[in-house]
Amino acid sequence: MLRYQTQKLAYMYFVGALVLFLAQVTFGVLAGTIYVLPNLLSEVLPFHIIRMIHTNSLIVWLLMGFFGATYYLIPEEAERDIFSPLIAKLQFWLFLGAGGVAVVGYLFRIHEGREFLEQPIYVKVAIVVAVLMFLFNVSMTVLKGRKTAVNTVLLLGLWLAGIFYFFAFYNPTNLVLDKMYWWWVVHLWVEGVWELIMAAVLAYLLIKVTGVDREIIEKWLYVIVALSLFSGLLGTGHHYFWIGLPSYWLWVGSIFSTFEILPFFAMVVWAFYLLYQGGRRHENKAALLWAVGCPVMAFFGAGVWGFMHTLHPINYYTHGTQVTAAHGHLAFYGAYVMINIAVFTYAMPSLRGLMPFNQLLNMWSFWLMTSAMAFMTFTLTFAGIVQTHMQRVVGGYSYMDVQDQLALFFWMRLGSGVVVVVAAVLLVYSLLGPVREQLTAGRRVDAEPMPAE
Ligand code: HEM
Ligand code: HEM
Ligand SMILES: [Fe+2]
Repeated sequence: MLRYQTQKLAYMYFVGALVLFLAQVTFGVLAGTIYVLPNLLSEVLPFHIIRMIHTNSLIVWLLMGFFGATYYLIPEEAERDIFSPLIAKLQFWLFLGAGGVAVVGYLFRIHEGREFLEQPIYVKVAIVVAVLMFLFNVSMTVLKGRKTAVNTVLLLGLWLAGIFYFFAFYNPTNLVLDKMYWWWVVHLWVEGVWELIMAAVLAYLLIKVTGVDREIIEKWLYVIVALSLFSGLLGTGHHYFWIGLPSYWLWVGSIFSTFEILPFFAMVVWAFYLLYQGGRRHENKAALLWAVGCPVMAFFGAGVWGFMHTLHPINYYTHGTQVTAAHGHLAFYGAYVMINIAVFTYAMPSLRGLMPFNQLLNMWSFWLMTSAMAFMTFTLTFAGIVQTHMQRVVGGYSYMDVQDQLALFFWMRLGSGVVVVVAAVLLVYSLLGPVREQLTAGRRVDAEPMPAE
């Protein structure tokens, strides 16, 4: 049962995020199909447009999930209702509208050039307005309520994410500077401030599902925050190796980005430590699975697959190959997709006034989706190694000839992509579909079975 009525605001954000998630992975499969059938849709909907919709809808739904997660957990943490439910609703429609306009624009080839930041200027302005409405609303709620480590770190992460987005508006004509500031959004988000959001949300979930004392969980949270910022800020240097910036970045980037493994490793130890400490087990076992799986997969995707190509003597060869795509997929999935799904799985039953339901199906989708993403990562890694070797180590092969040699890997990537889509459909069904058990006055009753079953 919900303790605060305004927690319900999270529901529309979660549904919006889930719908966009389905669209994102579907466009991923389309892009993966074009990789093996290159002329498919080349006139109507070319690859670069599909890729843009795939990556942009990813960012939009992840943010939408973060907004929803914040509206869900802030009332409990601050011990008061959200400052303005009206602002929260307007913000949702403005943000969704901005995303919709961006996609329609992309279909008509209206876009800018920087990867992930292709939105036309008016869409960017609308996004900023929506984000400021959000930040105002949740900050007012926390200022007037109880301040905990969880809501303080969460707000810090959200504010910094908003602030760094302003560099999306700064497009210097000098290409070196343009690239430099582009990473202030792209890198500082995922390897800096989004990590704070992830850690805060994970702390909240771990408090709920393990029942361990808040004090112990909060101490870890501060350590993780310190590690993320210490390593992530200068770790940006791993993108400054070959873009025309001074050569000291070769060492600064290599050394500090190596430390970036630490916060991800700490989150794994944290989750397992609490899992064994906590005597109480929450009845929502599916939420527990996602909450523990998230740091594990993030550690592999960001930590291990990130480290694999972060030292400059290695990155010299692998830069911009399929190795990068392998890392990008598993890191985004493990860290930010999984933390979002963990919150949806945890919160959806109480938002719908039901007991934890369809857990088995939800857990099936966990294993199916996670194995398929891992398999996709392996295929791309092998493709990347062969590509690096032929193109850059041995050399002498042209880019397109090498791509031809990788066809088998791209077919396998497509296969795993289709499995991800199936798993995503199962997940959405498990969260939004019909249920058997209903919650009445806080007690569980077994309702009539659904007619269809
Ligand atoms: C959850 C955290 C992370 C996410 C979501 C993430 C995501 C990505 C993505 C999408 C790219 C491709 C960017 C592009 O060129 O368009 C990338 C590049 C890169 N990432 Fe990460 N990453 C994360 C953490 C890390 C960590 C911890 C390390 C190092 C230990 C790392 C090392 C790198 C390197 C070296 C590149 C550049 C690859 C190249 O030169 O082509 N990443 N990352
Ligand atoms: C939740 C799951 C997914 C996440 C988090 C994700 C994330 C991403 C990211 C971050 C990029 C940009 C990569 C880079 O710059 O290195 C990308 C590109 C791409 N993704 Fe996904 N994706 C997902 C699912 C899928 C699926 C199911 C497929 C289907 C096969 C797919 C196929 C592709 C393709 C073909 C590209 C373009 C790669 C290129 O330009 O060479 N993705 N995705
Ligand atoms: Fe980075």
